Amino acid sequence: MKITDNKLYLGDIPVDTIMQEYGSPLYVYEESVLRSQFRKLSAGFPRGLLEIHYAMKANSNPSLLRILAEEGSSIDAVSEFEVRLALESGFEANQIIFTGNNNTLREIEFCVEQNVSVNLGSLALLEKYGERYPETTVSLRVNPGIGAGHHSHCITGGPDSKFGVYYDQIETVLSLAKKYKLTINGIHSHIGTGIFSAEPMLEAMEMILDVAKVFPDLQFVDFGGGFGIPYKPEQLPLDMEDLSKKMTERFTNFIQHYGRDLLMKIEPGRLLIGPVGVLLATVTNITNTPKNSFVGVDTGFNHLVRPTMYGSYHKILNANRISSTEKDVVVVGNICESGDILSRSGDDFIRKLSSPAIDDRLAFLDAGAYGFSMSSQYNFRPRPAEVLVHQGQSRLIRRAETFDDLSQCFVDFN
Ligand code: LLP
Repeated sequence: MKITDNKLYLGDIPVDTIMQEYGSPLYVYEESVLRSQFRKLSAGFPRGLLEIHYAMKANSNPSLLRILAEEGSSIDAVSEFEVRLALESGFEANQIIFTGNNNTLREIEFCVEQNVSVNLGSLALLEKYGERYPETTVSLRVNPGIGAGHHSHCITGGPDSKFGVYYDQIETVLSLAKKYKLTINGIHSHIGTGIFSAEPMLEAMEMILDVAKVFPDLQFVDFGGGFGIPYKPEQLPLDMEDLSKKMTERFTNFIQHYGRDLLMKIEPGRLLIGPVGVLLATVTNITNTPKNSFVGVDTGFNHLVRPTMYGSYHKILNANRISSTEKDVVVVGNICESGDILSRSGDDFIRKLSSPAIDDRLAFLDAGAYGFSMSSQYNFRPRPAEVLVHQGQSRLIRRAETFDDLSQCFVDFN
């Protein structure tokens, strides 16, 4: 992304040009940013120690998955269809870990049939798995009793979380493993998402390693994802260089005591893909009330739900005039609900924006993660196209949906 002559460019192409070609609204991703996010992250760890499993729930477009496969990423998948998509996007079965939750045995059977490793997140599932596949190898998701995240919906560790086997129930795990002659080859944990401080991550790491030491047959310990990215201009990024150094030190020390080489795994989603994408939209309306100036756009929480769902801040730029006189506005979508406010930041929703005018193009930044992947067809509106830009070239990687796409599953229709 760059700014020239007060206008926004993506991969050297003016936003207006991209939108004229592919329409509005539109998700656009920059390939060079994706590659550099992956390379920066892996460079922080010693070669051979770390395996990165991209959390494809953040964004599962196969063109982006293929780039990550080329970079050497593996995959964290959560559903049968994610596994299928990863397999069809260039990943080998042995590069995929399936970590669902509240799974049916059928989902697990699917993974086993595909030779995809499963990571079991409950005692009930471990029992079912043991009955179905005795004398096999499997890994275990643990709740280390610690959670963190940018919003209460996004904390996945601690006593309020449904995920994983609570760390104080490990005795039961050991006896189930014994009963069904299961080899536990990995311990996994993921404490939350959008985490900005190293402390909870390192604290959870201690708890996870404390659990890991009682399992003699481990091949890996997986510390999940959760690495936050700065969405607000004043937000400081998580110091990944420092965190990766500390994680490496702690892990290599653990390996020495454990007595055998182990692989460290992490499962970043947001960190890799968040800064890669923007959602572009067009100003369709401006409505003034005694209190607010509403800037209406041709997208909404059907395409970017994070502001409405978590009060999450996404920086908004007027791509036609990046800096000009700023106005206090409320940026709102075209969904028929008053909660469809894209300029939220917690409970606040007034945003300074460069003098917006009808037909201006707005860019919602850092929308690569949990943007398109959480989009919906609410109000019977289609999801937008996705475009990849690289070295001055743009390429459609998913077309916009049509009326036929939205209506094809109806029975007795047409
Ligand atoms: N591993 C597991 C088991 C996960 O459940 C998740 C995310 C990740 C890894 C990747 O976490 P990340 O590195 O992206 O933080 N919709 C929310 C985020 C939900 C994340 C769910 N699990 C948002 O838009 O903030």
